[in-house]
Amino acid sequence: MNIPQNILDRYKKQGRILPWRQTKDPYAIHISEVMLQQTQVERVIPYFHQWMKDFPDYVSLAKATKTDLLKHRSWLGFNSRALRLQACAQTVVEQYDGKLPNKRNQLLWLPWIWPYTSAAILAFAWNQEVPVIDTNIRRVLIFLYKLPETISLQELELFAEKIIPSGKSRDWHNALMDYGALELTARKTKIKPLSKQSKFEGSDRQVRGWILKQLTKDDKPLLISRVQEEFPNKDVADIIKGMLDEKLILKKKWTLILE
Ligand code: ADE
Repeated sequence: MNIPQNILDRYKKQGRILPWRQTKDPYAIHISEVMLQQTQVERVIPYFHQWMKDFPDYVSLAKATKTDLLKHRSWLGFNSRALRLQACAQTVVEQYDGKLPNKRNQLLWLPWIWPYTSAAILAFAWNQEVPVIDTNIRRVLIFLYKLPETISLQELELFAEKIIPSGKSRDWHNALMDYGALELTARKTKIKPLSKQSKFEGSDRQVRGWILKQLTKDDKPLLISRVQEEFPNKDVADIIKGMLDEKLILKKKWTLILE
């Protein structure tokens, strides 16, 4: 069985038609990926339309008042996500004239863009052949290719990169997401998401402990994107915010330092 061809054919016939799949605008895709991070597709659709109407590009988002932004706090009550998106938009306007760069290392230096988000933007906006691995895609790859469930994210990325059908990164990743969401569900495959491991494994305390260990070990700034890379399934931004509020650590540009 040719797995990629089957999955692509299935997507062509019955893939979900979603608003962020009908555009190649990096901004729209960036917004959709942030909204989709902790919210279900059906819930995101109306918020996404409203957001794009109010803030159609990085320039309008960068200029928005806090009151404008707070109108959008209803999506999940995470209004800090709106503020983070604005911080990012302001940098894109200042450094890149309002156009998102299409290189991974430039994206990773933008505020609040994590490895997952950068990969998703590169694949969905520019069809670049970078592996995008969210919970659904991880489960699909492990199941179809009979990989060990213990495979590390780095190893999985190496594997995933090799099997992207040439020139079809965008469709392939959308197809894998659909296959995971609709067909190979967690229930069916019995593959556990990464975040549900032991109590400490994957807990906020583990992330905090890891950050402090890196900072005391090396005594040099720690890239926030590096933390997200280590804990792809955690809301690292939220954990870091807690640590900043407690003044355990300081943020300097996109790195963390000890006081
Ligand atoms: N979840 C995250 N990104 C997605 C996308 N592009 N399509 C569907 N579900 C998603």
